[in-house]
Amino acid sequence: MATPKAANIQPAKGKLGIMVVGMGAVATTLIAGVEAVRKGLAKPIGSLTQMGTIRLGRRTDNRTPLIKDFASLASLDDIVFTGWEIFPENMYEAATHAQVLDSDHLRSIKPFLEQIMPMPAVFDQYYVKRLHGTHVKKGRSKCDLAQQLIADIQTFKKQVDRVVIIWTGSTEIFLEPSAVHETLAAFEKGLVEDDPNIAPSQIYAYAALKEGVPFANGAPNLTVDLPCMVELSKQTGAPICGKDFKTGQTFMKTVLAPAFKSRMLGVSGWYSTNILGNRDGEVLDDPESFKTKEESKLGVLDYILQPELYPELYKDIYHKVRINYYPPRGDNKEGWDNIDIFGWLGYPMQIKVDFLCRDSILAAPLALDLVLFLDLAQRTPSLKHIGIQEWLSFYFKSPQTPPGLYPEHDLFIQLMKLKNTLRHIQGEELITHLGLEYYD
Ligand SMILES: NC(=O)c1ccc[n+]([C@@H]2O[C@H](COP(=O)([O-])OP(=O)(O)OC[C@H]3O[C@@H](n4cnc5c(N)ncnc54)[C@H](O)[C@@H]3O)[C@@H](O)[C@H]2O)c1
Repeated sequence: MATPKAANIQPAKGKLGIMVVGMGAVATTLIAGVEAVRKGLAKPIGSLTQMGTIRLGRRTDNRTPLIKDFASLASLDDIVFTGWEIFPENMYEAATHAQVLDSDHLRSIKPFLEQIMPMPAVFDQYYVKRLHGTHVKKGRSKCDLAQQLIADIQTFKKQVDRVVIIWTGSTEIFLEPSAVHETLAAFEKGLVEDDPNIAPSQIYAYAALKEGVPFANGAPNLTVDLPCMVELSKQTGAPICGKDFKTGQTFMKTVLAPAFKSRMLGVSGWYSTNILGNRDGEVLDDPESFKTKEESKLGVLDYILQPELYPELYKDIYHKVRINYYPPRGDNKEGWDNIDIFGWLGYPMQIKVDFLCRDSILAAPLALDLVLFLDLAQRTPSLKHIGIQEWLSFYFKSPQTPPGLYPEHDLFIQLMKLKNTLRHIQGEELITHLGLEYYD
């Protein structure tokens, strides 16, 4: 196989500004975590960019550098944070409120967290029913609000060398793509006319892309998964990816389902239920926000198991997903799965998974990797103008794909795709593991 030529990647010089939209549990755990790592107080566990290695060349070559040394990634020391939030608390207060990190951890970085104050948000309760925001921008129209966000981005750009934006805001109500999302021109008209199909997250995405700033979406709302956003992303060379961080139950699902399929074991039912008590859980207690999440969680099995190819094994799966708001648990979610499978001659078996996880502890390293990789994509000429960064599907429950293509959900194929993209842009030989190619 011919070795590709290394892409002409711009070096990661200077400060990388990260703007987070929604400074709740995930965002504060990300920001506090990066500072704790910088101060040598803790390790960036769960982050592929910080702890992962990549094999290069033949197995006998013994070349396995750390990804952060191999790929041209920004250093954690060069990251500067800011963001928007509908409540005015500083990041220390917000992190204390989120109750993810313990007070000892927070105390050691208190001065750093206290000086990060959120900017007023673009918010409308119609799209997140359970929240009553007080720290909110006022504008004559959605277009005016977009201009205010653009002004915020421009001000921040003066303090740093590059900017990436990530949505770590609440899950908005379920919306489907409509006429206003078809083209950039229709969307811009919709902004002026206050089209109700334009949710706040879309206004942030528009402002970011208009400013040529990459945008990652950690929630299941559409946001950048719209034709108008793909058009704008390609136009301004601002890479995009989404949606919905793949952290707890779906992470496990996309590990187990490929295992059953690889052994040709059938699945007759998969019942998934969760309890969680954080603000995210409260928001998802509203049926309209839950619907957005449900859609994102349900798609996974069909794509992995391919019932149309294996009807005897997967045609009649009963798949159910439930999320229950249960305040005593806070951010410590419990996700149960009961899986009914069948084997040789149709004999049934059961698997029970009980994942007592910490939601934001799992999500924060994904958010960090995403912003670093999007920054890399923007500095890489062959990735900058392609719009959707499918190689980052590894991080999402519901990966965004170009029209007509189905998403890849198998975690290990996603990882292979991510690492091969890094090898490719750095001019290294791809590692294809030919035995897995039938998944493509
Ligand atoms: N493991 C995980 O934690 C995980 C996994 C997958 C997806 N997610 C998604 O990530 C998002 C964040 O999760 P979280 O646990 O941090 O939730 P959270 O409720 O703690 O934080 C979200 C924050 O966004 C704010 N917000 C809402 N609308 C806003 C707007 N328009 N502008 C600015 N701020 C806004 C809220 O006030 C809140 O503080 C949620 O959508 C969640 O579904 C989280």
